[in-house]
Amino acid sequence: MAILTPTPAQENVVDTLDFVKVTEAAALAASRLMGKGQRDEADASAVEKMRETLNEMRISGRVVIGEGERDEAPMLYIGEELGAGGPGLDIAVDPVEGTNLVANGLPNSIAVLAVSERGGLLHAPDSYMQKLAVGPKAAPYVHIDASVRDNLEAVANALERPVSDVTVVILDRPRHKELIDDVRAAGARIKLISDGDVDACIATAIEGTGIQVAMGTGGAPEGVLAAAALKCLGGGFFGRLKPRNEQEAERARAMGFGDLDRVLSMDDLVKGKDVVFCATGITEGDLCRGVRFFGNSAKTHSIIMHAATGTVRFVESTHRLAARPYRAGGAQLG
Ligand code: FBP
Repeated sequence: MAILTPTPAQENVVDTLDFVKVTEAAALAASRLMGKGQRDEADASAVEKMRETLNEMRISGRVVIGEGERDEAPMLYIGEELGAGGPGLDIAVDPVEGTNLVANGLPNSIAVLAVSERGGLLHAPDSYMQKLAVGPKAAPYVHIDASVRDNLEAVANALERPVSDVTVVILDRPRHKELIDDVRAAGARIKLISDGDVDACIATAIEGTGIQVAMGTGGAPEGVLAAAALKCLGGGFFGRLKPRNEQEAERARAMGFGDLDRVLSMDDLVKGKDVVFCATGITEGDLCRGVRFFGNSAKTHSIIMHAATGTVRFVESTHRLAARPYRAGGAQLG
């Protein structure tokens, strides 16, 4: 008989640390396919593990950001109910943020999850979003409607350094040519990334990453995930929907976005007061180390943060893969 059970001390209270097991499970699964050119397979294996792990938790979860609408995604679809019963939570997931990065063994792919109370996370359409992310010191001084130069000068002032010592991360896309020109003209340094803007946005609020600003247009669901992380870190995030075509614009309107040009503040994106955000590195990254296999074990490196308490934890876990299949919850110690 199991003497160690996952029964929580109080009913209806979830141990926030349990959520890290969800992203760890997804990262472990996806990392097996690193560099194999199989982006869909890496995503599918992470989705399956993430779903399995969430279903073992004592929560009544509902996916608000996931793999797509029910008709296009069999697992972790928008609206899917997850968990073994417990407090009602909204869940935003990206089991592999940076599928190309995993497929090509490139840095900065992460498994990501954010949870909040019901209604706490914006249900963003599967569209694009213009984004501006900065760390806590610069947060009060920037705005998505200010010019690139003004924002970079504001960040430099807030950080008490010249603009030339500010590094901006931008997705390397043709649509960002003008933005890149503007950042260069303002005198800041640029780090172009091929994918993975959630990691970049979070890095702006973590000292030591060498990244102070993330700018540009990427996925809207990724914008909500980044905002959730920055809410936990006290950073700043602004978004604005950028539908790629009339069909996406129509869909956004049908979801209740009346004015598509409206600036989305942190509170629009993440209404919830209680937010937990976790990410586990799949490949090596600015934020987290990637999954490392050795002997019959693997090491994962994760960040888990809780907005209500302001706690930010980096967690390194060793998973003895041969001793037992990796699970979260269940009648064993996690
Ligand atoms: P996936 O993991 O879904 O492939 O997304 C990776 C990503 O780079 C995001 O980080 C980013 O927001 C988005 O894609 C950018 O979209 P696009 O590749 O269409 O420019």
